[in-house]
Amino acid sequence: MKGVILAGGLGTRLFPLTKITNKHLLPVFDKPMIYYPIECLVSAGIDDIMIVTGGRFAGDFLSLLGNGKDFGLKGLNYAYQEGEGGIAEALGLAEHWAKGDDVVVVLGDNIIEKNIRRAIAKFRDQKKGAKILLKEVPDPERFGVATLAGDKVVRIVEKPQNPQSNKAVIGIYMYDGRVWEIIKTLKPSDRGELEITDVNNWYIQDGSMTYEVLDGWWTDAGTFKSLHSASTLVAQGGANKLD
Ligand code: DAU
Repeated sequence: MKGVILAGGLGTRLFPLTKITNKHLLPVFDKPMIYYPIECLVSAGIDDIMIVTGGRFAGDFLSLLGNGKDFGLKGLNYAYQEGEGGIAEALGLAEHWAKGDDVVVVLGDNIIEKNIRRAIAKFRDQKKGAKILLKEVPDPERFGVATLAGDKVVRIVEKPQNPQSNKAVIGIYMYDGRVWEIIKTLKPSDRGELEITDVNNWYIQDGSMTYEVLDGWWTDAGTFKSLHSASTLVAQGGANKLD
């Protein structure tokens, strides 16, 4: 299983911080933000990793990360996203490298307290389909929001005005090798992006989507408030902790 970290986009919600660097290179407590999704994958046993980034500062990822030696990796792979066509578009850039394999996808601005080893093991057991991770939040309208019926996810709505639940879909997704063809069928949303929520709804329609409720805290770090609280949470006890 391979790991893809999506670190493109313009980070406009963090302007002017992102005027002179990529959002994922900003500090979260004592490390650049991009360290956390890399450690998330490595701590879960995934060591074949591609980073998709873009924009004017893409070269700085190479200067910072090189071949991933600081994380115990033998190598790191990179892809470049032109523009900001959405999370699913960024993921599509990893297709030629993934060569039909299953993938774990981590959004570059998502940080979690505990490692996801167990969720990945369960996904491997299911053999086919996709898995998402959910977390109850006080402000679901900021995220993709899942509606559940029994042990099934029946629908995900991206940033709903009237959320049907408080269960946010966090930015860690597991997909089987069909994801690459699904991405090719997507149409841009009203915000002009290929939406990862549309990929997830495809698997729901297919009947092959499963979910886990995330243990421990989760935050994104894409707004001033969430960037600040990410630093505070990491300072209080660290991220990607082993059980
Ligand atoms: O944080 C979880 C949420 O992330 C999910 O609940 C939503 O369903 C999902 O759409 C996403 O929402 P955001 O609007 O917060 O995503 P954002 O545009 O901030 O992008 C998150 C990361 O994805 C960003 O740090 C880098 C990557 N990305 C994003 C875009 C738009 C790319 O690599 N390329 C892109 O074009």
